[in-house]
Amino acid sequence: MSGIQRTGGALTCDGVPLSDIAAREGTPLYVYSASTIISRYRAIDEAFASHPHSLHYALKANSTLAVARLLRSLGAGADANSGGEIDVALRAGFIPDQIVFTGVGKTAGELAQAIDLGVRTINAESEGELERIDALARARQTRARVALRLNPDIDAKSHPHISTGLKTNKFGIGLDHVRGICQRMAGRAGLEIVGLHMHIGSQITDLDPLARAASAIVRLARELGDDGIAIDHVDLGGGLGISYDGSPVPSAADYAAALLPVVRGSGLHLVLEPGRNIVAPAGVLLSRVVDIKEQPGGKLFVILDAGMTELIRPMLYGAFHRIEPVEAASGPETVCDVVGPLCESSDTLGKDRPMPRPGVGDLMAVLDAGAYGAVMASNYNRRPMPAEVLVQDGTARVIRRRQTIDDLLALEA
Ligand SMILES: Cc1ncc(COP(=O)(O)O)c(C=O)c1O
Repeated sequence: MSGIQRTGGALTCDGVPLSDIAAREGTPLYVYSASTIISRYRAIDEAFASHPHSLHYALKANSTLAVARLLRSLGAGADANSGGEIDVALRAGFIPDQIVFTGVGKTAGELAQAIDLGVRTINAESEGELERIDALARARQTRARVALRLNPDIDAKSHPHISTGLKTNKFGIGLDHVRGICQRMAGRAGLEIVGLHMHIGSQITDLDPLARAASAIVRLARELGDDGIAIDHVDLGGGLGISYDGSPVPSAADYAAALLPVVRGSGLHLVLEPGRNIVAPAGVLLSRVVDIKEQPGGKLFVILDAGMTELIRPMLYGAFHRIEPVEAASGPETVCDVVGPLCESSDTLGKDRPMPRPGVGDLMAVLDAGAYGAVMASNYNRRPMPAEVLVQDGTARVIRRRQTIDDLLALEA
């Protein structure tokens, strides 16, 4: 029994009852299905099998060491977005040549770290950053492999907060400027321009903008070739969305069918940086009902022991996550707001949700929470971060223990 599904009425993860895991480890709790991560990684890898490619898993989606290690064991590389993520990648066993380093505001320290390690590529965000990389590399008498991140000014048609490919966004270099910058930078002793990079947004469910951006990047690669700057790869970033509400979304095969015709024939190696698509459906956030409150003439609130500190996506992006009782429920149907315990009215995980009326102590599951969930958790209201469990081959293993107040205070004078 693989993935997160109902077995005999109750939700299970790779065959293990979620209620058993919650009884043992407490709530709030993240639980991940290894089989889902494996099958989703392989689906993308196989869809692109006809073209030379590498998948650099975007650590930002979920960088818990055991998750990163699992992806490495499948043959993934890593996409790191900070010095911290580079460290995590190394500790997860990735070698520097398997790491690409992206990020809109890399510090001198982070660039030096990446150059000293000799990461596969630094995806550079601006001419100024290229200057800084060149200076750091020359000082070390080495050459840094760089790709230029371009901003194609294409709307990814996702949520504005996770769209990154418009010229009103802070990311990348405008298409019209890339060729000139490459010509100016090509002779620099500290730089080896090896690629072009883009990432136009996350939770993309319309593949047309991605295909148009890919065409722009491949065209630019050809023009650079004409200028005598031979690059070896294009990195089309991540972004493939998932279905949070059950509506149809493009599959890995659709994704490949949209992108492969654009890169095939270019002779360029293809790099992708998928995150959400691999890990989001593999994760569930478990939480217990701590109170039920009916405001007279107002709403019915189901108050959980998890909120925006464990999963900020609903508050940050108005994101929708299905919320279901873990055990088959038979109470009368009702409509409620599912909220967290924090001192913020926006601490809401789901609004106007029809569901059987839960009771205090019931275990609830927030689905598709494996990406941008635990990694975005915070300690607001002095709430310790939740534990994380990975279920693999029928065994549920704690991969990150629950934080304690002592852990939190250990940093303080
Ligand atoms: C540069 C870059 N690559 C990859 C990703 C991963 O995106 P996703 O999780 O949507 O696949 C992101 C996420 O924002 C990103 O900024």
